[in-house]
Amino acid sequence: TPPAAWSGRFSEPVSEIVKRYTASIPFDYRLAEFDIQGSLAHAAMLHHVGVLSKEDLDSIQRGMAELLTEIRAGGFSWSLDKEDVHLNIEAALTAKIGDAGKRLHTGRSRNDQVATDIRLFLRDAIDRIVDGLRACQTSLVDLAEAHADTVMPGFTHLQVAQPVTFGHHLLAYFEMLARDAERMADCRRRVNRLPLGAAALAGTSYPIDRQFVADQLGFDAVCENSLDAVSDRDFAIEFTAAAALVMTHLSRLSEELILWMSPRFGFIDLADRFCTGSSIMPQKKNPDVPELVRGKTGRVNGHLVALLTLMKGQPLAYNKDNQEDKEPLFDTVDTLTDTLTIYADMLTGVTVKPDAMRAAVMQGFATATDLADYLVKKGVPFRDAHEVVARAVRAADSSGRDLAELSLDELQAFSTMIADDVYAVLTLEGSLAARNHFGGTAPVQVRAAIARARRRI
Ligand code: ARG
Repeated sequence: TPPAAWSGRFSEPVSEIVKRYTASIPFDYRLAEFDIQGSLAHAAMLHHVGVLSKEDLDSIQRGMAELLTEIRAGGFSWSLDKEDVHLNIEAALTAKIGDAGKRLHTGRSRNDQVATDIRLFLRDAIDRIVDGLRACQTSLVDLAEAHADTVMPGFTHLQVAQPVTFGHHLLAYFEMLARDAERMADCRRRVNRLPLGAAALAGTSYPIDRQFVADQLGFDAVCENSLDAVSDRDFAIEFTAAAALVMTHLSRLSEELILWMSPRFGFIDLADRFCTGSSIMPQKKNPDVPELVRGKTGRVNGHLVALLTLMKGQPLAYNKDNQEDKEPLFDTVDTLTDTLTIYADMLTGVTVKPDAMRAAVMQGFATATDLADYLVKKGVPFRDAHEVVARAVRAADSSGRDLAELSLDELQAFSTMIADDVYAVLTLEGSLAARNHFGGTAPVQVRAAIARARRRI
């Protein structure tokens, strides 16, 4: 076993289990590309300010290019003895180019190095996640457009409430994902700041140019305070909170897809490629993908709590606790990225069954509010109208009919204000068309919302 990079001060090596316990290479190896990017910018800056020779910079650039090729080809062997991705790469570089490799860490610490790596990683992840959100929004709008007129029951308390169009229902999720994309973009502004230059915690005695490094790496700004730069992970917590909200939104949609696909609803079918069967029940087609999205939401919510808990007791500045930020963060990114990719495709494979939706909305007295509104327009106070309609619903319910199936005589028994124009408002189409204002479910409004949505993606 070779000695650790910091072994000079120690009289005995760590035991095998402590080595495994303290190492992060089993998971942080995936920061390698970002670590190399950060090192190249740091080296270029050291040369720029006269701390590193041109020859050393050239060697570092050549060595890093070779390492990058090896790492991308999967030919690099990560060593537990080197503890983490930073020390692995530095050691491999030094093995290739000698002393220039040992000069790379001048004016830098793994503390500002790792904070930089995570920010670069997260910036890249956010960009992919925003693309994924856009793809899901596009799928939602496409499906909404095909169903701008398709009537379905709108529910409150999972009881039939009022008719809505399926397109309108889908656009509700479009709005949630639009806010999620905004949250991600907003979070990115705080992620995209440069910690390098903070060194271990106090800054460094070299004449560094932090703005030069920020420009090289595409950071919008430099972290203002060195202690804060190395120790806070609030940007990662904030990202995970935004990710948990995306998952929560998709989990709600998943719950609906699952319900709608149940024969009790029978509103939709999912393409076979998103479902699996049962090893015992030959007839089964189960909505596994939405169920897993719902399940994996718990996992991401858990990561948010893990990161918050990780942070709460840490004194300034860097503590090794922060090494524990990576697995929750990586898993959040992976879970969310995969979920969005699958979801965008799954939505294109939804088959809608308009007859079942219409039959369901016919069962719930969904136009009762329309009858009350009809009476209000004839001068009846709303509370009295509510009472009249409630009694009409009870009568219809006890004879197994819809409100529209009651005769005019029967209806007039509840209110003399009812005339034969009432049937126009009792139909589903009449109810939909009446909700004709910005944000309402009238098909004409849904189409306008779809046109606006397309411009917003
Ligand atoms: N692997 C460490 C992490 O993930 C890098 C920073 C270690 N710094 C230190 N002084 N031990 O946080």
